[in-house]
Amino acid sequence: MRVLVTGGLGYIGSHASIELALRKHDLLILDNLENSTLGVLDVIRQFTDSDVDFERIDIRDSERLDDAIAGFMPDAIVHFAAKKDPQESILKPTEYYDANVLGTINLAKAARKHLVRKFVFSSSAAVYGHAKEAPVNEDHPLEPLSPYARTKQIGEMIVADIFASQSGACAFALRYFNPVGTHQSGALLAHHQKSSNNLFPALMRAVRSDTDVLTVHGSDLPTPDGTGVRDYIHVQDLAVGHVAALHRLGDRSGMQVLNLGTGQGYSVRQVIDTFEETLGRKVRHEYGPARPGDPAVSYAATERSVAALAWSPGFNLEQMLQDEWLAFYGSPPERQER
Ligand code: UD1
Repeated sequence: MRVLVTGGLGYIGSHASIELALRKHDLLILDNLENSTLGVLDVIRQFTDSDVDFERIDIRDSERLDDAIAGFMPDAIVHFAAKKDPQESILKPTEYYDANVLGTINLAKAARKHLVRKFVFSSSAAVYGHAKEAPVNEDHPLEPLSPYARTKQIGEMIVADIFASQSGACAFALRYFNPVGTHQSGALLAHHQKSSNNLFPALMRAVRSDTDVLTVHGSDLPTPDGTGVRDYIHVQDLAVGHVAALHRLGDRSGMQVLNLGTGQGYSVRQVIDTFEETLGRKVRHEYGPARPGDPAVSYAATERSVAALAWSPGFNLEQMLQDEWLAFYGSPPERQER
C-alpha cells in the first residue's frame, strides 16, 4: 500500500513508520520538524532498508499539502502530526486549534479531493476526561478537560464528517492511552525525548539524579492506594496496532473509534514498586497535590479494538520500564541488589 504518514518523525509516528516500512508499504512521511529531527528519517531508512520518501511540510500549509497528496497518490493516510501537551494547550490554545483542527481539516479535504479512501486518525484517551467507569469503553460520554483534548474530539468529528462520510471511505480514530518506552531494537534510542513531564521520564530522571525527586501527584485519590491509575502501553505495541488498523480498513465503511491500551490499570505506586522490584533501584519520590484536571483513573476497555483489529499488546509493565530505561540511558539496565 502507498501510505502517507503525517508526523512520521515524531514519537509514535516514527515507531509506526518503522513497522509499516518493515511490512513493505511505500511511505511518504510529512513532518514540519517542529518536534523531531531528520536524524529520525535516517534511522527509519537504515533500520528498514527502504526508500522512505520525505517532505518537510506543515499540514497548516494547505497548498503544499494538497500538492504532496496529488503527487504521491496514497492509498491510505495515517495522521499523527499534532501538538500534544495538554498543559501547554491551556496556555496556547490558538496554536493547538491551528495545528490540530485546521491541520486535520486541510488533510481530510485534500484526502477527499484526491480520492484517498483510507484514513487513520491519532486520537487520545484524554477525550474521556473524568470517566465515570473504569475500564472506559468507546461509547462513554466525552468530557475533554483541555484545549488539546478538545482538538482531538473535534478531529474525530472532522474525519467522520469530511472524510469517512463519502461512499467507500473508511477510517479509524484510535484513542491512545499512555504510550511509553522505545523500539526494542534500540534503533530510536538517540531520539527519545527525556524532558517531558510524563510519569515514566520523570521516574527515570529521579532514579539516576542526585537532585531530581519524583513528585507523586496525589496520594488521596479515589483509587485503591490513593495514587493515579493509568493504562501504559509500549509504543511498539501501539505502532503495530496501526499496522493492524491499516490492514483492517477495508473491512467496513465509515469511521470506527477504538481504544488502544492494554486494558490494565497501574497506579503510580504500583509503577514505582514494579520498577524497584524489577531493577533493584530506589525511586526517590515525595507526595504532592494532584495535578489540576488529572483524572484519578483511566484505563481502556479493549474488547472492541481486539475484535476489530485482531491485535493485542504484548509488552508488560516490567518490559515497558526496562525499555524506558534503555531509551534514557542507552543500555539495558543492570539489576542492582539493594
Ligand atoms: C497525559 C495526557 C495525555 C497524553 C499522555 C501521554 C492529560 C490529561 N493527559 O496523560 O493526553 O496522551 O500524557 O503523553 O494530561 N504522575 C506523577 N508524577 C509525575 C508525572 C505523572 O505522579 O511526575 C502521575 C499522574 O498524575 C498520572 C500518571 O502519573 O496519574 C500518569 O501521568 P502522565 O504520564 O503525565 O500521563 P497522563 O497525565 O495520564
